[in-house]
Amino acid sequence: MRIVVVLGSPKKNGAGTLAAKDIESVMNESERFDFEYIQLSDVGLGLCRGCFLCISKGEDVCPMSEGRKMLQARLEQADGIILISPTYVQDVPWVMKNFIDRFAFTHHRPILLDKKVMVVANGGSGLNRVRESLSMAIGGPDIVAELDYISPNWPMSPRASAKRDKAVRRSVSKFMAAIEKGGHEPTFSKYLMFRFFKDISDEMEEYLPADHRYYSNKGDYHTSVKINRVWNFFAGVIIAVLKRSMSDMAPYVEKD
Ligand SMILES: Cc1cc2nc3c(=O)[nH]c(=O)nc-3n(C[C@H](O)[C@H](O)[C@H](O)COP(=O)(O)O)c2cc1C
Repeated sequence: MRIVVVLGSPKKNGAGTLAAKDIESVMNESERFDFEYIQLSDVGLGLCRGCFLCISKGEDVCPMSEGRKMLQARLEQADGIILISPTYVQDVPWVMKNFIDRFAFTHHRPILLDKKVMVVANGGSGLNRVRESLSMAIGGPDIVAELDYISPNWPMSPRASAKRDKAVRRSVSKFMAAIEKGGHEPTFSKYLMFRFFKDISDEMEEYLPADHRYYSNKGDYHTSVKINRVWNFFAGVIIAVLKRSMSDMAPYVEKD
């Protein structure tokens, strides 16, 4: 089984790397997992320029897709992905935020949906916000484990250290169980998102052609599962209400 660790610190071999090594050693106590570490600050991802092309016309039209393509290929080969970020002013630092932005298209077209993801925030305070940001990172895979990895910039008490080890083990066992189980089951909220994007991709083909291409090849969901009639009905109602509340966002067409 292959685990890809994405490290979002601008600093190499810091507390995030320590967290990853702790996780790796616990996971490899009982089974053999191949770990690959990706230090985002090393991969030449390039800063998002805000052109919106990845979302509208497709990620391959991005004017600087090289680093992203390499990273995407590695994430696609993973069974499990661990996203690790330090806390900078109660949120992720720019390196991780840039990664999140460079993969923004996955919110429209969730190509990594079948992956199992563990999110790890390191630092001391504001970790929940970091985990929330990480949970948005690659557009919809199941966040199966979360971890706050306390990492002060000064010596830690044995008690705090033992508490952290316990937290690592707890999260790792959830992560491993989800990887063992594998597959992807739609939840109602994921199905709702699917329906919403499919719906607007029809109406907005001119503005979101990449979404239109992606969703016009899909049936009931991203995968080939059949969705029951109850979900279908309720999703239709919720989307109608949602679209009404978002009507200011709809493209304007001048009437003759
Ligand atoms: C610019 C900056 C802002 C920071 N802001 C916070 C913060 O808001 N909360 C916190 O707990 N730690 C904060 N820290 C400390 C780091 O989160 C902490 O040292 C972390 O473990 C560093 O991880 P790393 O070694 O993987 O980069 C900040 C550090 C820096 C450099």
